[in-house]
Amino acid sequence: MNAMTTPTPPARPANTISAKPGPFTVETVLEVKHYTDRLFYFRITRPDAFRFRSGEFIMIGLPKEDGKPLLRAYSLASPFWDEALDFYSIKVADGPLTSRLQHIQPGDQLLLGKKPTGTLVLDALKPGKRLYMVSTGTGIAPFASLIRDPETYEKFDQVILTHTCRESAELTYGNELVEAVKSDELIGEFAREKLVHFTSTTRDDGPVKGRVTDMINSGELFDRLGAPPLDPAVDRVMICGSEGLLKDTKQICLERGFIEGSNAAPADFVVEKAFVAT
Ligand code: A2P
Repeated sequence: MNAMTTPTPPARPANTISAKPGPFTVETVLEVKHYTDRLFYFRITRPDAFRFRSGEFIMIGLPKEDGKPLLRAYSLASPFWDEALDFYSIKVADGPLTSRLQHIQPGDQLLLGKKPTGTLVLDALKPGKRLYMVSTGTGIAPFASLIRDPETYEKFDQVILTHTCRESAELTYGNELVEAVKSDELIGEFAREKLVHFTSTTRDDGPVKGRVTDMINSGELFDRLGAPPLDPAVDRVMICGSEGLLKDTKQICLERGFIEGSNAAPADFVVEKAFVAT
């Protein structure tokens, strides 16, 4: 499933990489979509042997002029069952990797790590009734994977994805994604029943304005959702976004008696920094 993008024809000869044995494979760009001057999506080929759990991240990169790899961590935004791999990235004009990566086109090649890892996985959470996925900016990427995993809906009665960005245009990727998920053949039925998408903007006048953390603290979020306040007995929380979001949402969870989970010791909430690839 990937209804949200249209292939862009290559305007120049593809940039290829000569394959060398090592901790990476060389993959080919299949699609690219630019959302704003700060955000873009890309899809690449997936090696047959590449396995990951929804919510994990992987190293992505390009060779430098000296041939050595320049790599950054990226959340895998596609579901584990998909035949290709999706990523959602920021563009940093003077960033060593994204200043180049933002110009990739279908047919170009890039480097993909072989070892996915991460804490935003269902295995790191105890069973619960309601799963909150709290994100800002490109922090929505791991949740783009998790909301397409049937296990998410098997484990929880309700799945609430919150996404806060500075401006409305930055919500487009998430809006298109959720729409596509709800009409998907495989998981649409679960998503239509259980997935709630809550969005807000902080710097333009969208329908809902404000930081999600403020809305949790004031209770506005729960009023808008028609849900009870956060309760560690039944709620589970996954957090991914800016440093400030992580710190403040973690604090909110701890104050309410939630315990941080990990792969080794599943508990009530998990946190991961959105990888702001430079
Ligand atoms: P704000 O505009 O009030 O700073 P960025 O694009 O810088 O990564 O930010 C993405 C979103 O995260 C913005 O809407 C931003 O709000 C919000 N944000 C930044 N810091 C926090 C925080 N400490 N708690 C909640 N949201 C935050």
